[in-house]
Amino acid sequence: MADLDDATLDEMLRAARNSMTRAHAPYSGFQVGAALLNEDGMIRAGVNIENASYPLSVCAERNAVAGMVVSGNTKIVAVAVATDAPTPTPPCGGCRQVLWEFGDADTPVVAEGAGGVRARWRLGDLLPHAFGPDDLR
Ligand code: THU
Repeated sequence: MADLDDATLDEMLRAARNSMTRAHAPYSGFQVGAALLNEDGMIRAGVNIENASYPLSVCAERNAVAGMVVSGNTKIVAVAVATDAPTPTPPCGGCRQVLWEFGDADTPVVAEGAGGVRARWRLGDLLPHAFGPDDLR
């Protein structure tokens, strides 16, 4: 992906993996770290935060989006997700919708699993025919 150079990709995945260790995931045991690159050039991370009332758990990607919005940023340039899964895992369906709110079809999404194995997609491929802000205009 020409619009995401290797150094930025590495930095994003490093931020995602560093934050992953702070995930609160005592129920699933599945720790996730997400990192968003914003238009200001900053990388903002989030982790999954589970709750004893299971449905109240929130994914890493959505917590990263919350931090991004609080910091005054509303444009996602790229998304990175880190886990220790054997295969790199893309954002879940709900997170794809939330990412769409602040990204677009070309937004790169990269994931890294155990052992550094990586996968890349475009947000538009993960969420084709998306419903979004334009549909409400
Ligand atoms: N999880 C995420 O944080 N992001 C995803 O895209 C997929 C799932 C979290 C939710 C839950 O805490 C754990 O992973 C297992 O589903």
